[in-house]
Amino acid sequence: KILGVLLASAFAMSAAGSPTLADPLRDAALEVFKPLPSTIPAVKNNRITPEKIDLGKALFFDPRLSASGVFSCNSCHNLATGGDDNLPTSIGHGWQRGPRNSPTVFNSVLNEAQFWDGRAADLKEQAKGPIQAGVEMANTPPVVMATIKSMPQYVDWFKKAFPGEKDPVTFDNLAKAIEAFEATLITPAPFDAFLNGDDEALTAAQKKGLALFMDKGCSACHSGVNVGGHGYYPFGVIEKPGAEILPPDDKGRYEVTKTADDEYVYRASPLRNIAVTAPYFHSGMVWDLQVAVAIMGTSQLGEELNKEEVRLITAFLESLTGTVPPVTYPVLPPETAKTPRPTS
Ligand code: HEM
Ligand code: HEM
Repeated sequence: KILGVLLASAFAMSAAGSPTLADPLRDAALEVFKPLPSTIPAVKNNRITPEKIDLGKALFFDPRLSASGVFSCNSCHNLATGGDDNLPTSIGHGWQRGPRNSPTVFNSVLNEAQFWDGRAADLKEQAKGPIQAGVEMANTPPVVMATIKSMPQYVDWFKKAFPGEKDPVTFDNLAKAIEAFEATLITPAPFDAFLNGDDEALTAAQKKGLALFMDKGCSACHSGVNVGGHGYYPFGVIEKPGAEILPPDDKGRYEVTKTADDEYVYRASPLRNIAVTAPYFHSGMVWDLQVAVAIMGTSQLGEELNKEEVRLITAFLESLTGTVPPVTYPVLPPETAKTPRPTS
């Protein structure tokens, strides 16, 4: 199949008299994927400014957004370890184990919707969830805002980040600032360099893996700029994985739409940085990327991929590991006498 596409595109290029030598693999890939943008992506209803980014960074790292004063966004989306927590499912308030694996925040601004089931439209909507989730940060908007307002430095940062607003220190603006910071967490990878024209950016094995990823049909679901992150499919289109990987009590997108067709339906995962964000799947029950790839073969494609195919596809997935932008650890405003104390 892919050979046909490759030959056709090579022919098209030469027929068009292109002065540069066509790379059929790159041409085929560019039909399906997009390189990362070279500037911070714009987001809806939230102009991104340096002041917002800096405020959002402080908030992202501030454990005082949680009721216990222990958990920050960075606890479960550690920027030093792939933007996730490397646990099967996250541990939050009171050492409770949540129901799902933590996805990476890197490049999340480019997902069409957030969470495994896509229940939040964008990052500003998303950020309000974990702060209030009982198993994550277990806080309430009034307490969070009292915490922020008790620290003059934060109030000043909110004023600078939202100039001209009468009441800039709000929960909505807090979420917008976090979104602005997250929009900077873009990680260009060897795969982007390849798409942008660098023939040497991928190894021979990674190129073969890329061709297989397209030819076998992985890219029917994992496509676009994040190699996934949009579109919803049953986990187990062809064959449902066992209950240890697909726990029966988590029905995925069904909880969002209440439509029977959406039982066990999930967003096709974004695969950027996948090699550094084990364990895999929403249940976090698979630690080995090669095993995850083989499971996708049987569950989504109805095909038992052989060892070499799994090895090559995994090599391609490794080319999606990007360079993390430098993030300086922020110095946070000190508490005052008015700051609400941690609860438990
Ligand atoms: C999902 C950001 C706090 C655990 C997400 C996603 C983002 C994000 C952007 C969606 C990514 C995607 O869909 O690809 C944040 C921010 C936080 C925060 C900005 C602070 C305000 C936390 C904490 C924990 C946590 C403290 C762990 C206790 C998770 C989990 C998911 C998730 C388990 C997946 C949940 C699901 O799909 O149902 N987070 N997070 N997050 N985060 Fe966080
Ligand atoms: C998840 C790779 C084919 C839909 C994943 C994950 C990987 C992966 C590594 C885990 C992501 C993570 O844990 O963050 C592949 C490969 C494929 C393939 C290598 C081809 C062999 C497909 C196809 C579909 C699909 C064809 C759609 C019909 C999904 C969905 C998830 C997922 C819905 C989320 C599963 C969950 O809820 O845990 N894929 N995939 N994949 N993929 Fe694929």
